[in-house]
Amino acid sequence: MRRWSEGQPGLAFGADYNPEQWPAEVRREDLRLMGRAGVTLVSVGIFSWGLLEPEPDRFEFGWFDEVLDDLHGAGIGVSLATATASEPAWLAQRWPEALRVDADGVRVRFGSRQSWCPSSPVYRERSLRLVQALAERYGQHPALRLWHVSNELGCHNPRCCCDTSAAAFRAWLTRRYGDVEALNAAWATAFWSQHYTTFEQVDVPARTSTLKNPTHVLDFARFSSDELLGQFLAEKGVLRRITPDVPVTTNFMVGSQLNPLDYGRWGLDQDVVSNDHYLIHRHGDPEHGGIGYDDPRAELAYSADLIRGVARGNPWLLMEHSTSAVNWQPVNVAKPAGQMLQDSLSHVARGADGVCFFQWRASAGGAEQWHSALVPHAGEDSDRFREVVDLGQLLGRLGELRGSTVHNDVVLLVDWQNSWALGGESLPSHRVRHADLALRIHGALRAAHVGADVVPVTAHPDDLAAVLSSYRVLVVPTLYLTDATTAAAVRAAADAGTHVLVTYLSGIVDEHLHVGLGGYPGAFRELLGIRVEEFHPLPDGVAGLLDDGTVGDVWAEVATASDDVEVLARYAEGATAGRPALTRRTLPSGAVAWYLGTSPDDEHLETLLRDVCTAAGVRPVAQASGPVDLVRRRSADGCSWLFALNHGSEAATVSVRGHDLVSDRAVGPQLDLAPGASAVVREDRADG
Ligand code: GAL
Repeated sequence: MRRWSEGQPGLAFGADYNPEQWPAEVRREDLRLMGRAGVTLVSVGIFSWGLLEPEPDRFEFGWFDEVLDDLHGAGIGVSLATATASEPAWLAQRWPEALRVDADGVRVRFGSRQSWCPSSPVYRERSLRLVQALAERYGQHPALRLWHVSNELGCHNPRCCCDTSAAAFRAWLTRRYGDVEALNAAWATAFWSQHYTTFEQVDVPARTSTLKNPTHVLDFARFSSDELLGQFLAEKGVLRRITPDVPVTTNFMVGSQLNPLDYGRWGLDQDVVSNDHYLIHRHGDPEHGGIGYDDPRAELAYSADLIRGVARGNPWLLMEHSTSAVNWQPVNVAKPAGQMLQDSLSHVARGADGVCFFQWRASAGGAEQWHSALVPHAGEDSDRFREVVDLGQLLGRLGELRGSTVHNDVVLLVDWQNSWALGGESLPSHRVRHADLALRIHGALRAAHVGADVVPVTAHPDDLAAVLSSYRVLVVPTLYLTDATTAAAVRAAADAGTHVLVTYLSGIVDEHLHVGLGGYPGAFRELLGIRVEEFHPLPDGVAGLLDDGTVGDVWAEVATASDDVEVLARYAEGATAGRPALTRRTLPSGAVAWYLGTSPDDEHLETLLRDVCTAAGVRPVAQASGPVDLVRRRSADGCSWLFALNHGSEAATVSVRGHDLVSDRAVGPQLDLAPGASAVVREDRADG
């Protein structure tokens, strides 16, 4: 297999490139400006199906040949899309049954993008014909570095409720359960008279009069993720057959919340994992209140650590982010000077071997005309483009980092199935989402300059226990759904000496969403020496005070601790008064099992994380003053680079000695960082 980064002197730098939107003279200017900016990799053809195949089986490759030849002539590599992301008008017109149906039974109409049904045999057949034609025509093209399958699979069509999808769902269930009585047991269908006597009676969980069966909904989410994975694998299969040496990827949408696909599982099938990430600002309106972040760049850091976990620690590719504003939030916040570079470095620090954007040139028309780009509407003579040139130069100087990796002493264990389960209709509290506390814990660690890996359960189907045991500290945040294998892996890590911090609402239900009886948290009761009898979730605006001064939020509960458990803090008031809220237990392995029963205020959360790290012997990445983001990449041959990004509004200092690749000068023993400044220091080696 060829390397996707072959022939790239620095770290890859580029964008989605949509030349079909522009006349020839603009395309010529594009090549000149790409040269000026140091662009090395562009994704082409992502939404070009309608122009590449204007009628069924009539391909128009001439214009595309020119695009690829010109890019190659300019020394730019291509991440070549399979162009299947958005179906052409003729497909929708001739085979309307290939369009997806929403939960209300409404079939979407043509006129946007990615409107296809993931289970449609027509879409599958037509898309694979296109993939085959592209692979045959461009498989040997010298510009080709990487196949880019589809685009953000599942972004707009994560689930489809049409009859074809329902039949595919039944086939999936038949494979999963074999016997309908096994399904009945798993779904607890004795409740509300939902018992099935044959798989034929099972429908997709579309519109119902009230609450749906939660396991039915969860299985449909699993099925839908698998169904889209089937499309990816089918396209990949065609590409492998025709171009066995060319690596294949599809761009993920890994952020901390709201992903319809089990990317932990999907990562296993990528030759290189690639990701799209956009900052999501918190807005006042309720529709967006659920997905915005007070500190979107903290969410970026978490997501970049998570995508590295999806890539199982390997370097990955940032396929898209934005130079400035996006076009799909209520107010599209632009990035101030310097932030684009710092956001890019935040991804590189966390293992990205390339930085790309949506998109090269801002569109004059079309649905995304107000999205920022490397070449803004103002053109070359703009601060934005000058910053783009600076970024290109910097990435060109960072080539020595390629292939180096990040490994921290602390790991957070996360799981997409948990985000689906905790997105359900009927739960103890809708204020609990799977990633919220994980994100806050990640932030508290960053504040202490401690790095964290974020590992998805499904990225390690065979080696989860070994992976978890390789860390000094394992955090299990809100892992509501914990199957027996995952519980055993956590236990094995603790027995091997890994300190474990489990938070509230973890280990409550199994893979069928059945509650572990006899006191929560069934999966971790023994490990923690904690037995919870009743949940007392806190409404919005109601604080749960603890006797050590902590202001708790979101959660409280009635728990008892066994004799060998040290209670560090108790609820101070209300129905849970006197009950343990924060505990620690020393295990025979010497490791400590911590339990946290509420969501503490920032100060107490930071103190707790510092205590956990101290007990486990975890040290900060480096010594620094102020809110500096610190991450270290290391190469197999013993080199290391310290990334220091000052996100604060005050000057900061970092203890480090070496050569800063950003300013291109020697630094140390102390590095001074102005507000908003960044450094990437190749550290002096102890052996000289
Ligand atoms: C991504 C998508 C791009 C573009 C971008 C805008 O989700 O892959 O095609 O739409 O968002 O932010």
